[in-house]
Amino acid sequence: MAAAQVLAPPVAHVCHDLDLSDTTLRQVLELAAEMKRTPQRYSKALAGRYLALLFEKPSLRTVVAFELAMKQMGGDSVTANGTIGQREPIKDMGRILGRWVNVIAARVFAQSTVDELARTSGVPVINALSDLYHPCQALADAQTLKERFGGWEGLKVAYVGDGNNVAHSFMITAARLGCEVTVATPKGYEPNADVLALARRCGHVNLVHDPREAVAGVHAVYTDVWTSMGQEEEAAARVAAFQGWIVDDALMSLASKDAIFLHCLPAHRGDEVSDSVVESGQSAVFDQAENRLHTQKALLYTLLTN
Ligand code: CP
Ligand code: NVA
Repeated sequence: MAAAQVLAPPVAHVCHDLDLSDTTLRQVLELAAEMKRTPQRYSKALAGRYLALLFEKPSLRTVVAFELAMKQMGGDSVTANGTIGQREPIKDMGRILGRWVNVIAARVFAQSTVDELARTSGVPVINALSDLYHPCQALADAQTLKERFGGWEGLKVAYVGDGNNVAHSFMITAARLGCEVTVATPKGYEPNADVLALARRCGHVNLVHDPREAVAGVHAVYTDVWTSMGQEEEAAARVAAFQGWIVDDALMSLASKDAIFLHCLPAHRGDEVSDSVVESGQSAVFDQAENRLHTQKALLYTLLTN
């Protein structure tokens, strides 16, 4: 019959940052802060619930945080690694996993893969990073900003580097929470034009091509790798294009005196960031990494209990 046959009943997914409403985003972040303070309160909250992890690319933070998140809330996770869509259609994987587990987290190359799992599985699907978005990372970024500055409204934040998945999710999330976002990329490495337009509908987002202009007076300087997973063939060209774009002590000195440094990790020290900045007192990267756990717990709890 028609393609409608594979359509699953509507459930909440987090395939795109904007799948979370403004209200739910703020609730998830509040819950993450509470879970960080009182993890024991939630130790049985997801008993009998199972998460399937489907990862097409390597991961440390995202995968371990998801596994721990389920276990710390009394549930569990199972892993189904390998290339998605080669042995069988994605829609078949979605329908099969959806019969076994309560929620799926997928790290994929193409955004369309995670969207197809969401369309067919009948259970909540979480984007654990795609070519376009990294919504789980943006939640931890937001929690870290709130912890350091007490809120988001009026904070000036700069993202310097490649206009990639991390940049997309960060600019959307920071803008909708009330930050003034400036993104600086070399010409040719700007964020996706549609995603930029979307972010601008969420709040204040400025695009420039000079890292010094972007970081002047800001509260947070964020960067990510120049070559994302799946772009390895472009690595040499990217290294050439990004010369002069390192976040080093000189660049950080242009930011506000109390500015923090953010990076999703893993960091390539000596490329997009100097070792001294990662190791400096301004660096918040390990808080960010820790917060992956608390925010992913809050996200799972929200999707599975609401
Ligand atoms: N930041 C992040 O997503 O890390 P992993 O690739 O290790 O999951
Ligand atoms: N932009 C990077 C983020 C890794 C967490 C990538 O996609 O490889």
